[in-house]
Amino acid sequence: MENKNILSKIKLIYWFTISIFSIVILLFIGAIFYHIEPSIISFTFNNNTTISETIEVKLEDNTLIKDGIHVNTGLKEGEGLMLVVQNCTSCHSAKMITQNRATKEGWRSMIKWMQQTQNLWSLGENEEKIIAYLAKQYAPQKKGRRSTLSNIEWYTLE
Ligand code: HEC
Repeated sequence: MENKNILSKIKLIYWFTISIFSIVILLFIGAIFYHIEPSIISFTFNNNTTISETIEVKLEDNTLIKDGIHVNTGLKEGEGLMLVVQNCTSCHSAKMITQNRATKEGWRSMIKWMQQTQNLWSLGENEEKIIAYLAKQYAPQKKGRRSTLSNIEWYTLE
């Protein structure tokens, strides 16, 4: 009888310890996640700032430009911007454009490719304006990599 009582107490202590231990481990994992990505907590407490602000702007004002950037799409301000917003952002994100750079010919052939294969509509007289905007705002970068070294004096290893 005595023995059984002790045994059940030991069991109780055993499970108690395991539970405490699990809670500590869970808290620890939570703390690590919070450390890596604090927004998992701030999101729940503070979810009405950044996200809903962007949505509001999107709904309200499609012409809003801030620091030379069209807020809704991220495209650069410039002549023809709204034509591009209207014709080029309904199938894919404007990132397709902002991550690309090309000359007029390059943009023209991308548009032609989309018209032939992706059901892009005919742009009519706006095509030239759109291409002019793209080639101006998203022109190929003049200097990408440094140019190849020249006039190198090689020496022989001994
Ligand atoms: C009818 C739908 C549609 C419209 C409108 C449209 N595109 Fe596209 N575009 C596509 C599809 C589909 C792709 C391929 C997406 C992919 O590869 O995931 C694409 C790809 C692209 C690419 C990437 C091409 C590459 O070689 O990687 C660029 C740049 C682009 N579009 C620019 C534009 C521009 C500029 C306009 C406005 C003139 C435009 N798109 C309008 C459907 C469209």
